[in-house]
Amino acid sequence: MDKNYLYTPGPTPIPPQVAAAMSQPMIGHRGQDFAELHAQIVEKAKQVFQTGNDLFVLTTSGTGGMETAVANTVSPGDRVLALITGNFGERFAKIASTYGAEVTKIEFPWGTAVDMKEVARVWEEQGPFKVVLATHNETSTGVTNDIAALGSFLADTDALLLVDAVSSMGAMDIRTDEWHVDLMVTGSQKALMLPPGLALISVSPKAWPVIEANTGVRFYFSLLEARKSFANYNTPWTPAVSLFYGLDTSLDLILAEGLPQVFRRHARMAAAARAGVKALGMQLLVEDDAIASHTVTAFLPGSEISAGDISKLLKQQMGVTFAGGQGKLKGKLLRIGHMGYCTELDVILAVAALEMTLHKLGVPVELGVGVRAAEKALL
Ligand SMILES: Cc1ncc(COP(=O)(O)O)c(C=O)c1O
Repeated sequence: MDKNYLYTPGPTPIPPQVAAAMSQPMIGHRGQDFAELHAQIVEKAKQVFQTGNDLFVLTTSGTGGMETAVANTVSPGDRVLALITGNFGERFAKIASTYGAEVTKIEFPWGTAVDMKEVARVWEEQGPFKVVLATHNETSTGVTNDIAALGSFLADTDALLLVDAVSSMGAMDIRTDEWHVDLMVTGSQKALMLPPGLALISVSPKAWPVIEANTGVRFYFSLLEARKSFANYNTPWTPAVSLFYGLDTSLDLILAEGLPQVFRRHARMAAAARAGVKALGMQLLVEDDAIASHTVTAFLPGSEISAGDISKLLKQQMGVTFAGGQGKLKGKLLRIGHMGYCTELDVILAVAALEMTLHKLGVPVELGVGVRAAEKALL
């Protein structure tokens, strides 16, 4: 039978209720029906972002959300500090360079988190910066950065804090306002349980004067246009209406489960994945549990076995998809996504599939050892 088990850290599986919501008949986006839908989505999304700030739903992917954050706050020649813990941190820095910023990068070894002592040292020696770029959950490595610490460090400065929470919003406890995040970005195809195509971005009162004064170019991604249209619960350009329907439903599902329970479920899934993978003799890229992502677990299969062989067999024989490595970890790493429409039992299944695959590839694993460890982490 042809059944797919999708464990990529985006796109992620879609709940049937969300799929059904997206198949509703089309409505005109300039009418009252859309305005009502839009208003209620934004009100619910603010709860997930834990923010009282303005929030916009953009028809673009997560990268478009990151570009929106940069394009609206960075003018050519501006000094930007980019904190890089992996591929997506590099992307954020690249976007800022593309917009003409003078970017200072602090690069941390892949698999580790932002070290605030290093940030403080660079700030002391080279600061101030107009904008700081950070990744909450670095999907390429499975590291979660301490945005609360970064936000409190920057709170008394004029710098704006732009955060990529594309692969963690809706899965992890992200306190946009308490953490002093000025522009917080996420995407639809991760923990929000939707297909790709939407980005959500919140904007703080501290950021608006900077956005208004910004001389950099922007058109489709203008937050000033988005704000103007949102005054009538509209969007400047044609929105992906079907995805808005889906988002309305997925936010309902998240809020009905309750944010504390959603966060707990993701923490448990990560614990189970880490325990299972480790028990199978794989090397976790992120050794420290304290910085391990709750939405994606990355591991190295070791020198005797290739990541490519494992993913090929997983896919061919069981319909299971894990993600590979990105950037400098391409071909070396495997990543299991466990976010959104995913339960603890789905993680057990992923570990079981890995266990069987390793066995088939001749790796001397005792059958059941991975599953047992994953189960133990849950009981
Ligand atoms: C942390 C992070 N940032 C940004 C992106 C880019 O989002 P998109 O692929 O939707 O443009 C991703 C997607 O994989 C991500 O995981």
